[in-house]
Amino acid sequence: MTDLFDFQQRRRNFAVLGNPVAHSKSPQIHEAFARQCGISLSYEAIALDPGIFEQGVRNLRAGGIVGANVTVPFKQAAWHLADELTDRAQVAQAVNTLSFVADDIIRGDNTDGVGLMRDLQRNLGFSCAQTRVLVIGAGGATRGIFQPLIDSDPDEIVIANRTPSKAHELLAAFDSPRRAAACHLEDLSVSTFDLVINATAASLTGEVPKLPDGIFAPDALAYDLAYADQPTIFLRWALDAGAARAVDGLGMLVEQAAESFWVWHQHRPQTAPVISTLRSGSH
Ligand code: ATR
Repeated sequence: MTDLFDFQQRRRNFAVLGNPVAHSKSPQIHEAFARQCGISLSYEAIALDPGIFEQGVRNLRAGGIVGANVTVPFKQAAWHLADELTDRAQVAQAVNTLSFVADDIIRGDNTDGVGLMRDLQRNLGFSCAQTRVLVIGAGGATRGIFQPLIDSDPDEIVIANRTPSKAHELLAAFDSPRRAAACHLEDLSVSTFDLVINATAASLTGEVPKLPDGIFAPDALAYDLAYADQPTIFLRWALDAGAARAVDGLGMLVEQAAESFWVWHQHRPQTAPVISTLRSGSH
């Protein structure tokens, strides 16, 4: 692996790469972290043309950017592009954090899983140990969070998907998780869960995955990886369907950013004030 020292000495220009990306809160999150830690940096949102992601990244690096977050739809392309991968990025087969650690090395990392777990455990006081966890969706978002969820020792973890074959494929790609299963959304009717995570893209089209009634255990937490200024349609449905709490992915967004910040600067910023500022909309 390349020496991080060289990376940290260089001028700090960063970006989030996506399409669309103008709505991204990452610039204000990283700027807030930098103010807290007394670090000088620039961080901008850059929309790249999907057809030229790799060339776009190489041009930005040539222009002096030393690190980038990657969001929809480029996380898998970033995984392919990286010369070196952390273990967690390798497992996720997706990269949300790029570090240009030397002239010819691009290092790829994935901080989404740790971001979710920190939001659940520290911010929401939810421990997955001895619980029943349901993850809805079997795309890239699920891939990014599945290993840390397995590692958090739930009694059972189920991936349910509209297309069940994709849920089975995803499960098979991970190291034989104990008490893990994959199924179709409709096959959930006999189970209840303490944590239900929406990792589908359904919110983007204003839809709720077609789930049976009665999937929430008493005190269940519904968690949507998506976030919006108003409660998402999934969270509204979940409260109607019996969830005790319903939380969007804003906390995860800030926590994954904090982990990327650590990767780049070796400083751990405080996340609570940033989450609170974003929640209040006073940014
Ligand atoms: P991402 O990388 O954001 O996870 P993706 O790989 O395209 O995006 O995966 C999207 C996920 O959302 C899939 O699990 C998809 O279900 P299918 O595999 O059946 O396509 C799920 N999804 C999207 N729209 C949905 C909807 N309206 N209801 C249920 N699931 C939906």
